[in-house]
Amino acid sequence: MLVAEKNSLTEEIEKMVEKHGATRAALMPVLQDIQRNHKYVSEFAQQEVARLLNIHPVEVYSVITFYSFLNSEPRGRNIVRLCQTITCDLIGKEIVAKAIERELGVKFGETTKDNRITLEFANCLGMCDQGPAMLVNDKVYTKLTPEKAVEILNKVK
Ligand code: FES
Repeated sequence: MLVAEKNSLTEEIEKMVEKHGATRAALMPVLQDIQRNHKYVSEFAQQEVARLLNIHPVEVYSVITFYSFLNSEPRGRNIVRLCQTITCDLIGKEIVAKAIERELGVKFGETTKDNRITLEFANCLGMCDQGPAMLVNDKVYTKLTPEKAVEILNKVK
């Protein structure tokens, strides 16, 4: 990261700390503000939050990993969540996952280089009788085959 970017991020976080107060209680609101503005909380941002709130960086990191709405890595414009729970697993989730990974050239847990898609596994989406199931952002797709999943993802902008 460039020095200028670091400084502007520091300034931005300082303003958030000013708004929410320089105490431990400000940790969550400050992290939410950073997540909202940048879609993730970088390692540098985590260090700055820890420094400005006078808490240990490990504590900041553990809060981010605990809450699924906070991310420590940049994410894609679209989040694809394939159900990994037992019913979907038994009816072909694995071959669907492999086909998706092959098509996009990234593994689950990763984001495509063009930032178009982040792949994640999810737990039961409540569509067990119509699995394998996946969510693309907030839309559910069911009865997936490898071909159907690839076709759906190729239409995602
Ligand atoms: S197990 Fe996949 S939707 Fe329930």
